[in-house]
Amino acid sequence: MRISVIGCGYLGAVHAASMASLGHDVVGIDVDPGKVARLAAGTAPFYEPGLPELLAKVADTGRLTFSTDMADAAGAQVHFLCVGTPQQHGEFRADLSYVDSAFTALVPHLAPGDVVAGKSTVPVGTAEDLAARLAGTGATLVWNPEFLREGFAVKDTLHPDRLVYGLPTEAGVPTPEGEAARALLDEVYATPLSEGTPLVVTDYATAQLVKVAANSFLATKISFINAMAELCEATGADVTRLADAIGYDARIGRRFLNAGLGFGGGCLPKDIRAFMARAGELGVDQALSFLREVDAINMRRRVRVVDLVREVCAGSIVGRRVAVLGAAFKPDSDDVRDSPALSVAAQMQLQGAHVTVTDPQAVENARAKWPDIKFASTAHEAVQQADAVVLATEWAEYRDLDPAEVGQLVAHRAIVDGRNVLDPAAWRAAGWTYRALGRP
Ligand code: UDX
Repeated sequence: MRISVIGCGYLGAVHAASMASLGHDVVGIDVDPGKVARLAAGTAPFYEPGLPELLAKVADTGRLTFSTDMADAAGAQVHFLCVGTPQQHGEFRADLSYVDSAFTALVPHLAPGDVVAGKSTVPVGTAEDLAARLAGTGATLVWNPEFLREGFAVKDTLHPDRLVYGLPTEAGVPTPEGEAARALLDEVYATPLSEGTPLVVTDYATAQLVKVAANSFLATKISFINAMAELCEATGADVTRLADAIGYDARIGRRFLNAGLGFGGGCLPKDIRAFMARAGELGVDQALSFLREVDAINMRRRVRVVDLVREVCAGSIVGRRVAVLGAAFKPDSDDVRDSPALSVAAQMQLQGAHVTVTDPQAVENARAKWPDIKFASTAHEAVQQADAVVLATEWAEYRDLDPAEVGQLVAHRAIVDGRNVLDPAAWRAAGWTYRALGRP
């Protein structure tokens, strides 16, 4: 099938390459000529495990092209809308300007029978508005949210946990156009569907809500365990053992119960805020007021880590050398959008510490955001003469650091484990002061 993918960021680039690997003819379209040039040359414009290999694999087939010209979307039967919906400046609401401009540019190139499949995370009601704008084109809008996690984006796209189609409906039943669109999407996703991927077919509103509901649940789960970490700190309990014990209950489950610096990135924080804003517009803000608390617990983690560093620095970080291991919002990504690690680093820098940040992949992106911070290319370089070390992103190479070896490089053996991934006994045995969130 001929497919266009509008927007080639973390979502679109992976989606385009994945669709080509499933055998479709794909054109990826983006307004950024640099991104398009890199993708066209077969290079991933960001770090995502498996994406370079996937791009190389499909390059030989000739089934994947990239362009800055929306006219090249013409002729595709399914157009995936994959542009970003960041938080609006000074507000909780989502900024829909990229969705709007991409859609406006696409409409003149649509043919009757085409399907426009929205993947971007949008406030509920957006799909209905966009569908109305397709009137007279003969094209059909479907909402097909994406649930990929950075770091696992290729796997999540090729082997998703579930697929969701939001179709146009009348009296709760898909319209004939909706059924035709569904048949096209079934063809697009023939491979994952044949592998037994669950499919939820529903209306626009439900499909849009599924995405923000899922992200709100995940954010709540993380903030729940981080709230428990606060209780643990007040009582001398260990939140990691608590999480293990409650996680054995199958109704609760252990995943997403890692207490620490909390969630960041381009999705969870802005999605829960946009969801609250939308609920307010819909007159049901009370239903989501708990998300305010989820957000507040999460943001407190960052302050708490800085406080712990201050404690291990005998009450003041002014003029102290602090090494921060990690800049990406999570391991296996170079994404620094709303990164808890960078937030901690920047707070300490602004409070007078001399901060050196390192990350296996995200140094370039981090430097662009915080040019005043010092960056190092390796952990060993970053910790030289440090008065305190903060583990802020749990990259495997930081989890595996040898406390004795690192101890030779620092000025003072003090570590704040912002992700609860180090073995406190091993670090203490090597002469370190070890502090963590929610652990004695
Ligand atoms: C998330 C959703 O998982 C994905 O389905 C959606 O499509 C986009 O948003 P992503 O932002 O890539 O994906 O990251 P995710 O793996 O969900 O982690 C989010 C944040 O939560 C990270 O900052 C991570 O460090 C943090 N986290 C995760 C915790 O603090 N504790 C945990 O136990 C799990």
